Parts: sequence; structure tokens; C-alpha cells
Amino acid sequence: MTDLAIAANGLRKSYGDKAVLDGVDLAVAEGTIFALLGPNGAGKTTAVKILSTLVSPDPASGEIRVGGHDLAADPQAVRAAIGVTGQFSAVDGLITGEENMLLMADLHHLPRKEGRRVAAGLLERFDLVEAAKKPASTYSGGMKRRLDIAMTLVGDPRIIFLDEPTTGLDPRSRHTMWQIIRELVTGGVTVFLTTQYLEEADQLAHRIAVLDGGRIAAEGTAEELKRLIPGGHVRLRFSDPAAYRSAASALGEVTGDDEALALRIPSDGSQRELRSVLDRLDRVGVEADELTVHTPDLDDVFFALTGGAGLPHQSKESVR
Ligand SMILES: Nc1ncnc2c1ncn2[C@@H]1O[C@H](COP(=O)(O)OP(=O)(O)O)[C@@H](O)[C@H]1O
Ligand SMILES: [Mg+2]
Repeated sequence: MTDLAIAANGLRKSYGDKAVLDGVDLAVAEGTIFALLGPNGAGKTTAVKILSTLVSPDPASGEIRVGGHDLAADPQAVRAAIGVTGQFSAVDGLITGEENMLLMADLHHLPRKEGRRVAAGLLERFDLVEAAKKPASTYSGGMKRRLDIAMTLVGDPRIIFLDEPTTGLDPRSRHTMWQIIRELVTGGVTVFLTTQYLEEADQLAHRIAVLDGGRIAAEGTAEELKRLIPGGHVRLRFSDPAAYRSAASALGEVTGDDEALALRIPSDGSQRELRSVLDRLDRVGVEADELTVHTPDLDDVFFALTGGAGLPHQSKESVR
């Protein structure tokens, strides 16, 4: 078994009589990116706050270990191992980016010279050198997030919590942030991120847990989650109604859309299945005007698992 950076058993948290987290198990391997995926109000921030010692779990929770330390018994050791970038920025807009960094260095009791060295290195790494002397209030959303993460890294944490790191960012800044997150893991740290975006979890995470109704509805790699649900198909479109009809009878197991002259054939999208579809069309001498392969994506998974409780639907073009 690989070492776990985070291991939580039966994580519970209620506010009043509302169970926000109702027995959540989490296991995050060291040096990996883990995504906790869920819509607004699912309990993502609550989970991050508990795992980062900012909020206590309910006493009915099982054991929680972060960075090898028991959260209840040794919160100080947990705090020393982690960095947290909250959903709402910790950046002070009234002072410059550099001053924000130096403040963090002070909080971590770095000697003055060392603090300056670390701050300069991180400002460079996050492309903030030019902006370093300007008040952070003048920064764009993407720059603020980069500064936020740079501040988190001052303490050289082994485990980093990123609560919705790209919510509200434009596509370009989102891509930059994804790159930054990938590089963090190359450097050996473990990243626990929360997101509302299926695309983001798919792009980044080694493992994904879908949080729904206070519980983990499904957990696995993106591929594993996609395999949980059917939905793969080949779609053929025709312009000639006669060709459409002969294709439909040649293919047998299909769903037809008589108006669009389109056929939908259940398929795993493999080369073998595609060839068999094309062979059968050849045999009756028809050719489709358009052929598309649809493999199920995390959207399909999420909607199948949760009955479609509203995650924001991002158009794929906007983030690719
Ligand atoms: N301090 C609190 N007091 C009462 N209710 C809270 C508190 N913090 C969070 N909640 C509630 O817990 C639920 C989950 O919130 P949160 O963890 O912020 O969700 P997410 O980050 O997934 O959007 C919400 O219904 C929220 O209103
Ligand atoms: Mg939140």
C-alpha cells in the first residue's frame, strides 16, 4: 500500500440538524492530485476546513490522518505539513504582492534574508515579478490566484488544499492554474482540490470523489467513473431519407431520429465496433454524411449518479 497523505474515515459534520458531511471516507495517496467534486453547497469547503484543522469534525467521525498525523491528537503537526488556498482569497489588496509574500514569510518565522529569497523565487515562478511592487488590489483574478498559491507555498507544505482554485477565472487563467497545479505535483507535493467543474477534475486529478448529499456517490479515476455508466454511441447522420432507412434496417439495434435523419448505435467507440458498423453500411451500399463517436464523459457520470443536481455546464470550447 502506498502512503496516504490524507486518510479520513466516516468524516461527519452537521450544522444544526443539517448533516453537511454524513460519513465521508477519503484516501489520498502521497504525490497525487485528488479532486473532490460537487455542486455549490455540497460540503466541499467544509471538508477542506476540517482536513486543514480550521473547523472541528463532529465527535462521531472516525479517525482522520493528514500528513501521517492524527488530526484530533496533533493538529499542530498537521498544520506544519499543509498549505491552504481558500475559496476566498487571503491576499491583502492594500499592500503589494511582494509585501503579501513577505508577510507570509514572517508568519512562517523565516529569517529576513531567507524570507526575501523565498518570496523573490516564488514571485518569479508565478510570473509576478513585474507586478510585485503594485498593490494587489490592481491584480487580475488570475494574478490574485497565483499570488494566493505563491503565498501558500512560502511554508513549503507537503500537502496543499486548493478550494475551487479556478472558479471565476477566464479560460486562459484557468489553463495557467492547471499548469501550476500539475507542476506542484511534479515537485512531489500532494494536492487536494475541490471543484465544481467536471472538466477540471478530468484534466487534473488522479482520483476523483463525487460528493452528493453529504456522501461520496462515487470515487475512482476519471476512466473508472466513466466506465460506471453506459452512454457511448456512434451517431450517423444522413441527408437522403432512403439511405437513412436502409441504414436503419441494416444496423438493427439502433435508435433513430426521423426528423434529423440520424441514427444512434450503442458502442464503446472501439475500432472494431466502428469497422463493423461501416461494414454493414457498405453491404447495403449506403454512406453516412456524418459520423461522430460519443464516449461518455464525466458529465454523463455526474448526472447518472446524482440525478442531475445542477453542476454548472461549461461549454468544453470555453476551457480547452
Ligand atoms: N458555519 C456554518 N454554519 C452553518 N451552516 C454552514 C456553515 N458552513 C457551511 N454551512 C452549510 O453547509 C453546507 C455546505 O457548505 P460548503 O461546505 O461551503 O459547500 P461547498 O463548498 O461545496 O459549496 C451549505 O449548506 C452551507 O450553508
Ligand atoms: Mg466552497
